[in-house]
Amino acid sequence: MPTPLIAGNWKMNGSRSLVESFGQALGDAALPSQLDVALMVPFPYLDAAARALSGSRATLGAQTLSDQASGAYTGEVSGEMLRELGASLVLVGHSERRTLFNEDDAAVLVRVQRALDVGLRPILCLGETLAERDAERSEAVVLGQLDAVLNGLEPDQRQQLVIAYEPVWAIGTGRTASPEQAQAMHAAIRRRLASHAEALAAATPLLYGGSMKADNAAELLAQPDIDGGLIGGASLKIDDFLAICQSAG
Ligand code: G3P
Repeated sequence: MPTPLIAGNWKMNGSRSLVESFGQALGDAALPSQLDVALMVPFPYLDAAARALSGSRATLGAQTLSDQASGAYTGEVSGEMLRELGASLVLVGHSERRTLFNEDDAAVLVRVQRALDVGLRPILCLGETLAERDAERSEAVVLGQLDAVLNGLEPDQRQQLVIAYEPVWAIGTGRTASPEQAQAMHAAIRRRLASHAEALAAATPLLYGGSMKADNAAELLAQPDIDGGLIGGASLKIDDFLAICQSAG
């Protein structure tokens, strides 16, 4: 069984003071012994967050990275820069990157490879839209997104992945997938990983994201194939985020 992981994705939110407050709170918190915690902050806060989190068990992550290693790409941020700033994880293929920034499966695979090239652990985000769920295409869509990355990696690279299932219709809506819905998709993802290697399926953390809150986290995290959460809105509130972490213990 993978070590549970609770990762907060601040998206384009937060402040220097919130970084300091989280660093203090996570440093003081009595977290479950078998739990990994991560915070994915906006690029400008990475350096301050690396320092603020240094006294805690939390690891630092970024929310995306360039598909290029370096060069004339104005405004982009490379994986190497993220590593230099103290990040060890990076989200890849978040639905907001896929829809708002036109990152298709090929673009997601390249970013996973860029992350692996510099020693960042990719959190690969997968999820279907409401229209795709209503059309009963959820599993086909999610497993198609997963295959597009798995089939482009070597076996040892696949072992580096963390996977986050985030039904798009549950992100930021307060409409959380039911534990049964989430478990069914996580089990399908685990089976697809097992089709490559049983050890890969057993070792890969599968996170759920999409309106996971303090009041529903325990029921979701009690599901056999849900190994943690990728938290948006609730990760900006220290008490809520710590409550979710406690539910994962
Ligand atoms: O990456 C996590 C995020 O997409 C989930 O957002 O606000 O529904 O927890 P939220």
